[in-house]
Amino acid sequence: MENFDYYNPTKVIFGKETYNKLSEEISKYTNGRKILLTYGGGSIKKNGVYERVLQGLDGYEIIEFGGIEPNPEYDTLMKAVSQVKSENVDFVLAVGGGSVIDGTKFIVSAAKYEGDPWDVLIKKDNASFTDAVPFGTVLTLPATGSEMNSGAVISRSDLKEKRTMGGPQGFPKFSFLDPTVVSTLPKRQIANGITDAYMHTLEQYLTYPTDNLLQERIAEGILSTLIEIAPKVLEDPSDYKAASNLMWCATMALNGTLRAGVAYDWSTHMIGHELTALHGIDHARTLAIIAPNLFKVKFENKKDKLIQYGQRVFGLDGSCGEEAILRTKTFFESIGIETSISQYTSETDNTANIIKKRFEERGWDGIGERGDLTPDQAKEIVEMSI
Ligand code: NZQ
Ligand code: ZN
Repeated sequence: MENFDYYNPTKVIFGKETYNKLSEEISKYTNGRKILLTYGGGSIKKNGVYERVLQGLDGYEIIEFGGIEPNPEYDTLMKAVSQVKSENVDFVLAVGGGSVIDGTKFIVSAAKYEGDPWDVLIKKDNASFTDAVPFGTVLTLPATGSEMNSGAVISRSDLKEKRTMGGPQGFPKFSFLDPTVVSTLPKRQIANGITDAYMHTLEQYLTYPTDNLLQERIAEGILSTLIEIAPKVLEDPSDYKAASNLMWCATMALNGTLRAGVAYDWSTHMIGHELTALHGIDHARTLAIIAPNLFKVKFENKKDKLIQYGQRVFGLDGSCGEEAILRTKTFFESIGIETSISQYTSETDNTANIIKKRFEERGWDGIGERGDLTPDQAKEIVEMSI
């Protein structure tokens, strides 16, 4: 097994009716009383989460920053950074999905950063966030794993850019995971969540065989569980057994566990982020579009693992790599995810060329688990995906 470091300081409070513990948790990280509540476009005010959270914040002075959009925008978040500074906020509580949580990671980090925060996102002169205002989360959408990792993805639509950030300051102090929130999610978001969690698992599994047998079995367990519960949770989002398994799968898929001691890829995500930046396609959907074609182009690299995946997850026999790719695409389509770019936009003429050029400009000459996916191959994969 390869050497690895494993670090995850985020406390998870999982289950129903737990928000009454919010004040107690926050008091462990600050003596101050002023809390900034960050949220998105207002779903929490319609589904009762907002009231329940406020009841759990007894004794604190609450100020709010709402309007964090899906694919959180740099300009929006910079307004919250000013608020955190001018109001001397002691703790930030993010209530929402991956966008609100990612946006909050940026807000708390940028509030403690002296220079231009955009430099961090474009990795200018190795600028990095190291400090942050303490923050926690109340998750409302199982998908990204942001509730238990230190990463975030921030967009600038004026530049058509979507950039990642990270660092140990990005781990939430705690995250409340109440699966009953799934009951109010639109089906589209549930399908997105299943797909994102599935793809986070594949990015860290579908590489080449390693000696970490446990990690491979955990990944296969997440994939099999998602396939099992997907129709159930889509049929009845208030099915607690299905919703709680979806929520825990999504968290486990990207909390650092799967990556320990194995090779990982992430090239589907790197290409997918460009599709969101260029065409505004939902994050998870970009992954379902790109992955099957990426697996075809990198078939020789991934062949052994594709066969293992086909046999163990889909119960196929023999040399079933190509069939495993087809089954993956069929699974996404079975939960209502379209898998071609042209099903989302008609402006596809320059997409592949633009992405190739961006990869070249950023020096992404070879990405993926073997460092050999070239800008030309990224272009080929995008062309196959139109
Ligand atoms: O904004 P509100 O009104 O809250 O509505 C949201 C939003 O419109 C709605 N929603 C959330 N919880 C709800 C709900 N509606 C009804 N009931 C609820 N309980 O869902 C919509 C989408 O929310 P969003 O947070 O954008 O979705 P998701 O959780 O999929 O997050 C996507 C973002 O996370 C990034 C993506 O790139 C994208 O920007 N990612 C973050 C990662 C990380 N930090 O580790 C990894 C991922 O690969 C991903 O890149
Ligand atoms: Zn993702």
